[in-house]
Amino acid sequence: MSVATIAELFTSAALQFGPAPESDAPARAWLAARGGVFDHYIGGRWTEPDGGERFDSIDPSTGAVLGRVAQGSAADIDAAVRAARDAYPAWAALAPHARARHLYALARTVQKHSRFLAVLETLDNGKTIRETRDIDVPLVARHFYHHAGWAQLRDPEFPGYTPVGVVGQIIPWNFPLLMMAWKIAPALAAGNTVVLKPAEFTSLTAIAFAELAHEAGLPAGVLNIVTGDGRTGKALVEHPGVDKIAFTGSTEVGRQIRRATAGSGKRLSLELGGKSPFIVFDDADLDSVVEGVVDAIWFNQGQVCCAGSRLLVHEGIAADLTARLRARMEKLRIGSPLDKSMDIGAIVAPQQLERIQSLVQQGVDDGAQMWQPSWACPTDGYFYPPTLFTGVSPSATIAQVEIFGPVLVSMTFRTPGEAVALANNTPYGLAASVWTENINLALDIAPKIKAGVVWVNASNLFDASVGFGGYRESGFGREGGREGMYEYLHAPAIPRADGHGAARGALEPQARSGGELPAIDRTPKLFIGGKQTRPDAGGSRRVESPAGALLGEVAEGNRKDIRNAVEAAHAASGWARASGHARAQVLYYIAENLAVRAGELAARIERMTGEDGVREVDASLSRLFTYAAWADKFDGAVHDPSIRGVALAMHEPMGVIGIAAPDDAPLLGLVSLVAPAIAMGNTVVAIPSGRAPLAATDLYSVLETSDVPAGVVNVVTGPKDVLAMVLAEHDDVSAVWYHGSAEGAAAVERASASNMKRTVVECARLDWFHSRAEGQLFLREATQVKNIWIPYGE
Ligand code: NAI
Repeated sequence: MSVATIAELFTSAALQFGPAPESDAPARAWLAARGGVFDHYIGGRWTEPDGGERFDSIDPSTGAVLGRVAQGSAADIDAAVRAARDAYPAWAALAPHARARHLYALARTVQKHSRFLAVLETLDNGKTIRETRDIDVPLVARHFYHHAGWAQLRDPEFPGYTPVGVVGQIIPWNFPLLMMAWKIAPALAAGNTVVLKPAEFTSLTAIAFAELAHEAGLPAGVLNIVTGDGRTGKALVEHPGVDKIAFTGSTEVGRQIRRATAGSGKRLSLELGGKSPFIVFDDADLDSVVEGVVDAIWFNQGQVCCAGSRLLVHEGIAADLTARLRARMEKLRIGSPLDKSMDIGAIVAPQQLERIQSLVQQGVDDGAQMWQPSWACPTDGYFYPPTLFTGVSPSATIAQVEIFGPVLVSMTFRTPGEAVALANNTPYGLAASVWTENINLALDIAPKIKAGVVWVNASNLFDASVGFGGYRESGFGREGGREGMYEYLHAPAIPRADGHGAARGALEPQARSGGELPAIDRTPKLFIGGKQTRPDAGGSRRVESPAGALLGEVAEGNRKDIRNAVEAAHAASGWARASGHARAQVLYYIAENLAVRAGELAARIERMTGEDGVREVDASLSRLFTYAAWADKFDGAVHDPSIRGVALAMHEPMGVIGIAAPDDAPLLGLVSLVAPAIAMGNTVVAIPSGRAPLAATDLYSVLETSDVPAGVVNVVTGPKDVLAMVLAEHDDVSAVWYHGSAEGAAAVERASASNMKRTVVECARLDWFHSRAEGQLFLREATQVKNIWIPYGE
């Protein structure tokens, strides 16, 4: 008898994987028990679709129909929004502990039914059971547990905050259960009620979850599920009874939603596409890198918004890494997703498969080298092999467009600077991973990458305690952690100015100014790049007292002036690297110089507004002190995720912020917006009060003498709505804060969709003197959170 040596065993068929199928019996029984026909879940009841229309949900690994799902109409959405509205007062009024108990019950029920949910998810989506069982479903449970905690702690941790109301949520098909949990858990924990629309390819686990939530005693109407395609999503977005839309999906649809909600007053958070870089330096541990790449781009067949789809490799190791990757790809196993030993499952739908095929063909046509393993994919069902492109030009379509499939494009760099430039050469900014054994290099690169998440020597790590979301065209808002809770809560309202009115503080302007008007002796100028400059067109506008007397003139800025100001603000981006202490010093210095001129400024404010100028200058000084105080105190956090490691939640500045200041309180309103922005390291282009702009032009000389670096604050006077639109349309502006008319606000929101900039619009007249008109609410708008994941140990 011949005995095989261990070496022979390793290379022989004896050590090959045998079939290891997970039983689909419980999921099949569940489908059969419902006759394969599924309704909406509205107001705690299963409701047939209003128009009677249904569509097939298929198993993408075989093409077989799993069931027929209801197509939601506008009437179905209306019924669901009404149910959510009816349920809202009682749910919002529940004691925090009661809501925490409900979320805890949802976490428990997910855990108890985890096997069933994992199998159903695999059947409906095509992703492997290894992933649904070990990643999706455990993360869903974790999300509900974590948010049971936020429900319990809501009042002490978010004092004075209130739920937003009825929330419409639209999710994609790549992580159906997980995206649902990311949406529902924080919304319910905060006290909102929900109408959720799953993606049309993958509705079944949301339906199963609704059944489980019902059994677990979630009150009727708190969670409503309306299935359907984009038309159903559109009806939800447009429904006037919805207070907030939370969307995850393509940037294209995100842009449509931004435009559709503009001017509606609906809150919005968008988690959109990405083209995330995976950066490998020449000292990286290449064996770990290879496994990291497998996780980055072949996890979930590459259908991951934060997939590491652009491999950026140091030139010196590129050939070695490519060879190792090809060897690893040759060993990846693709096939029945219910088989526990498969690495890669099916693509979600034929449309998606065709999209991947055509983008790969485009890459080949454009001259890049395409490589795929020698083995063939199963032919029934929708499979696509792992694919590696080398020799890709950074501007090629496959290097720029989100392919959303198992396709990796590789490029090389020579220096860390080049790596950063390549990494940021995309309109997206969702995630990045950085591979090096040098912690100094990793932590030098992480802040330079424009992305909401950076993984150091890791990829695709997620946890409920760590916020997830993008920069730039990857959207705005965060899901998870404390930062995610703010998306579902209203800050305590800043009181309206109407209660005070002009009457209370009004002084007789003539009396205070001794009956004399100032001479018209000023040449109207703008403040751009640290200098007082003449406007492009040379025009000016009159500034009058409430009684109509001419007080002075200001420059009439135009589009060109705004563009120059944005360029100056952009060039001053080094301000972001100044320490919090240094920024505080500058804010204190502005206050000091303002105090020297307090009397003069107060008098001018009084003449322009008829209000108490001394009070306004005093309040402005106090506000500058507030933000000088915050400049070195608005710390991020160290999150404690469920891995051996930490995630550093850093508050990073947005970039260039466009500010259209309120007409009221011309000095205080302006200072209340500019100070938090610059305290956090942003640079600013401000359009001052249209009614009383001289308060801003008085500030120029204060800024000039206060060590404010050139370009950090730029002021352009002129027609507010026209100038604000130039800011809203400008691609180098990252956020716009607009205070003005309802039409102006809607136009700014609509225009902001061009590069998905974050906007804050306010049409009410706020009481800028109130203590709520300052603080963290403003600092949060001035920053975006980047989570840098740092695993510990070897
Ligand atoms: P999609 O953005 O069209 O679908 C996402 C969700 O939005 C689905 O629930 C869909 O029904 C809904 N929807 C579609 N049109 C809508 C509208 N006008 N108003 C409201 N809701 C609407 O994405 P799709 O077509 O499934 O995939 C196309 C591409 O989008 C993918 O190839 C991928 O590149 C990208 N994508 C990115 C995702 C991400 O997480 N970043 C997720 C899904 C897709």
